[in-house]
Amino acid sequence: MTDRELADLAYEMLKRSYVPYSKFPVGAALLCADGTVFTGCNVENAAYGSTICAERTALLKAVSEGHRNDFVRIAVVGESEDYCWPCGSCRQMLYEFAPKLEVLVGKADRSFIKLRLDKDLLPHGFGPASLN
Ligand code: THU
Repeated sequence: MTDRELADLAYEMLKRSYVPYSKFPVGAALLCADGTVFTGCNVENAAYGSTICAERTALLKAVSEGHRNDFVRIAVVGESEDYCWPCGSCRQMLYEFAPKLEVLVGKADRSFIKLRLDKDLLPHGFGPASLN
């Protein structure tokens, strides 16, 4: 699967976002080594803090379906002028399973950039190895 195709799957998820409060849809698509893709969108809640981000929706779908150490790349996209930067909680959750994950970050015009989770988004991250 190309980066463009993965990003497009994430853009497709924008229409599933449940965002009555922020009106800020986010879509995600997580690629596994075997080619399986888990998609996600943000799901908000009247108790705002209970909101789940798009990346974590995709990640938890994947983990709950038996995927864990085979994540290759994730696309995270939004509809704003700037790139849809993954929040700190999502960076941390992804780091647990895939510190070297490639992250495609997209914006409204459907352009995206490719970053590395450990090098670019969460340097010196705290992960399972930190507990040794
Ligand atoms: N959001 C995500 O889905 N992913 C992120 O990494 C950043 C924030 C969502 C949460 C909330 O529904 C909306 O964007 C505004 O914060």
